[in-house]
This record gives sequence, structure tokens and C-alpha cells, in this order.
Amino acid sequence: MAASTSIKFAGAQIPEKGTAVVLTDKKLQLGELAASLDKSAGERFALFARIKSFRGAARKALEMVAPTGVELERILFLGIGESAPSGRFDWLRLGGAAAKLLPSEGEATIILQDPAGNYPSPGEAAAFALGLTLRRYRFDRYKSQKKDDEEKNGPVTVTIGVGDPVKATAAWKIEAAVDAGVELARDLVNEPANILGPVEFADKLAALDGDGLEVEVLEEKALAKLKMNALLGVAVGSERPPRVVIMRWNGGKKGDKPVAFVGKGVVFDTGGISIKPASGMEDMKGDMGGAAAVSGVMLALARRKAKVNAVGIVGIVENMPDGKAQRPGDIVTSMAGKTIEVINTDAEGRLVLADILTHIQKTTSPDAMIDLATLTGAIIVALGHQHAGLFANDDRLADGLLAAGLETGEKVWRLPLGEEYDKMIDSKNADMKNVGGRWGGSITAAQFIKRFVDEGVAWAHLDIAGTAMGSPSSDTNESWGSGFGVRLLDQFVRDRYEKG
Ligand code: BES
Ligand code: MN
Ligand code: ZN
Repeated sequence: MAASTSIKFAGAQIPEKGTAVVLTDKKLQLGELAASLDKSAGERFALFARIKSFRGAARKALEMVAPTGVELERILFLGIGESAPSGRFDWLRLGGAAAKLLPSEGEATIILQDPAGNYPSPGEAAAFALGLTLRRYRFDRYKSQKKDDEEKNGPVTVTIGVGDPVKATAAWKIEAAVDAGVELARDLVNEPANILGPVEFADKLAALDGDGLEVEVLEEKALAKLKMNALLGVAVGSERPPRVVIMRWNGGKKGDKPVAFVGKGVVFDTGGISIKPASGMEDMKGDMGGAAAVSGVMLALARRKAKVNAVGIVGIVENMPDGKAQRPGDIVTSMAGKTIEVINTDAEGRLVLADILTHIQKTTSPDAMIDLATLTGAIIVALGHQHAGLFANDDRLADGLLAAGLETGEKVWRLPLGEEYDKMIDSKNADMKNVGGRWGGSITAAQFIKRFVDEGVAWAHLDIAGTAMGSPSSDTNESWGSGFGVRLLDQFVRDRYEKG
């Protein structure tokens, strides 16, 4: 749910009314425009800074309310630290900090001239705007009464003063597409499961054809015909039928192999018959974070008309205990023909992924295949909320994702795969079992998925259980659902497919 933040770029000019934001550094220097503003407001910046112990640290701000000598309501001095941010990520974070300074409603002008008189590049200015809009996002659809601190996202029009407003506006068109993708992913994760079932999720994705995506929705009958019995086994305990949705964006050269994104979409994970404890179970409304990220990045690529061929596939089910639900000990035959002994019905994500990975490999031959899933609690034990787990059978692919993680701040950390781990999911009664025992739970989960990756396919798996939801507030997000993965994959596409 986009907080309505309307972004405009203009030549840098001091506004006459409303809120003005200007930059300063650790030496409390001001650029030409900021200095002239301070001058017309009585030159009290240095005094205020001293009284408030403001030192111009990066992303900290000093507020001057109702300054005399000007019509402005407020002047805000936003710190940049040692020197101006460099690169898109630093500007993105500064934009996030600026979001906290805006009025709850109305107009604000932010002048991005640094103390040395320089402006960010158009791409950096657009990244600043992206940070600002992402930080202003709130999921407040169900708040019928808004409290003071929650009202901070009324409609705001922000004019950003830059060196080249025409180029910045063009760059913002691209980042606005990314913003839409992240906000879609956040909305999907935040939405409760009574509202967002598999059918509703699929309907939302079907509507993305208006953005230029080709969308195909597979209903239960089609899934049965394809023999997706691993996925269907998870869905069978729910009153609500499953869906598989395939989204295609063909912005690249005809005939170029697509990059494939694959997402786990469990709209609610009770654990099934291996039911989860009550405490914290509400968080399992976010167990479709992988599918949300895949949907978000596909929307972003389509909106910014990315020069790439991409396909996204999501498996959307609900994992419920029921008289018809699958039992521990049941054996299912996956679409790939491999048999799986379901030891624990709570290890359901890998069952869903197995079949959609098979389907996408049968219908396209991907250049690279990346799956995203809120797959294991164990990854949160290992990496906390700060990194997603990365597993890959291809170093170039892994390195590309690691680099994109650093560029966007959506960081990933590589963990090992290996035969010793693979052995842990061998089963006495079937080709494999769906859990590997107590230790190395994220790794054995990845080994399970790997068994459904065809020879020669470059594949990576991102375990986003710790990063898709419930992360601490960051420079770019205050919502429970983070939209993790959208910016990461978008950056990965830029680097791997759109350079040169
Ligand atoms: N959806 C959960 C993983 C999860 C846990 C995501 C916490 C987000 C926060 C997954 O389906 C699951 O239940 N995994 C089990 C696997 C176990 C049964 C081998 C887990 O991690 O406990
Ligand atoms: Mn589970
Ligand atoms: Zn799950």
C-alpha cells in the first residue's frame, strides 16, 4: 500500500513555503544554497547545532522550526557525514533518512546540493527518491483509526532539487518501477491469510498483465494433470485450492535464454499435521515471501522495460491440518517422478518448490534459475535477520548474487552444499525424505531442492526466512514485510544481463 509520496525533480532552488531540507557535513559546512537560506533565516544554524550537539553525522538531522526572516515552516539540516554519499546505495539510505523528516502531509523541498556545491548523479538522485518512498511505506489498510505516529504517511509532494532535473526524472522512472515491485511484495507479505488465499494471490498476479507481463494461471485440475503431487500433497489439507502462476517478461533479444525466478508461496503455514506451536504462528502469513519477491521483481522488470527475458513461477498453497491432510509417513511421487517420504508435514516448502522447479525446467531452458523461499527457521539461527542464506551449484551465479547484495544492501551469505549433507535425506522407503534431522537444517533443505535441479542448469537458492519478514527497521523499511529480494534480483538482472 503505497503511502502517497509524489516525487518531482526540479532545479535546486530555495522554496518559499513549507519544509526545506538541505545538506551539511561533519564540519557543519553548507553549500551555497543552504548558506543563503541560513542567512535569510538569521544565520543561526551554527548556534542551533551547538545547542543541540548536532555534528552533521550521516543521516542525522537538525530541525529549525518556524525560522524568522523566511516564510518557511521548518528548515532541516540533514547530515552527510564526512562527505557526500557516493553510489546508489548510500544515496538510497540518505533518502530513507530524509523520509523521517517530512511533514505528515503537505509539501517539502529537498535540496541535494552538498557543501562542496556538487549534486548527485541522476541515478543517485533517483536512488535517494527510492529510499524516501520505500521508507514512507506503511501497511495501514486495516487501521480504521490512526494514531499520531502512524499518521506520518499522509500525501506528501516532495520536490527534489538537483543539478539536472530532466535526467533525474528519467532515472526516477526506472526506480519508481522498482518501488512498485517492492511495495507489491510488501503488501503481499503483510496481507493476512484470511484475505489472501491462493486464489486471491493468483488473481492479483493475473491482473499484472496490464503491466505487460504474460501471465498464466494453472488451476488444480491442470496441476493434477501435470502430476504435481508433491505440491498437491501440501494443498490437500486446505479448503482453498492451490494455484501455480507463471509470469513472463520478454524484454531481451528474441531467443536469449530467460533467467528464471521461482518462489515458495505458502499463504499460511500451520505446519499441517506436524502442527506448529501456537506462539508466533501468526507470522506464517508471511510464508509466501518468496512468491511475493518473485512477483515484485517481475513487476519491476516489466514497468522499467528491462532488456532481459525473464520468467517467474510461484507455487501458491495453504498448509493446514485436516481430515484430508497429508500424514507423516506418506509417500508422494513428484512431477519429476522422484518419490518423497513426508516425514514432517511442516517441511512443506521444499515439496512445493520441487514441482515448480521441474515444471519451469520442462517448459523453458533457463540461463540461470534462482529460487526464493522462507524455507527454514534454521537460517534465522545461522544468519539472523541480516543476511539471507545463499546456496548455489555455480560460482559465477553465486558471485553475481553476492555482489548485487552488497550493491543494494539486501545481503546474502553463501553456505555449503555437499554429498555428506545430501546423504542425510536418503530414505529407507522412498527416493528421499523431506527432512534431514536436527543439524544443518537449512543445508539439508537446500540439498532436497538440488535434487530437482537438472544437470547443467545454473541454480541458486535463497533462504529468506529471516529477511522477508520481521526484520528490524532499516533505512529503507519500517514495515513487517520487507519486500526482500526484489531490489536484489533487479540489481542482479542489471549487472548480468543489461550491462554493455
Ligand atoms: N515456513 C517455515 C520456515 C520458517 C520458520 C519461515 C520461521 C519463517 C520463520 C518452514 O515451512 C518450516 O516449517 N520449516 C521447518 C522445517 C523442519 C520441519 C525440518 C523449520 O524450519 O522448523
Ligand atoms: Mn513449514
Ligand atoms: Zn513454510
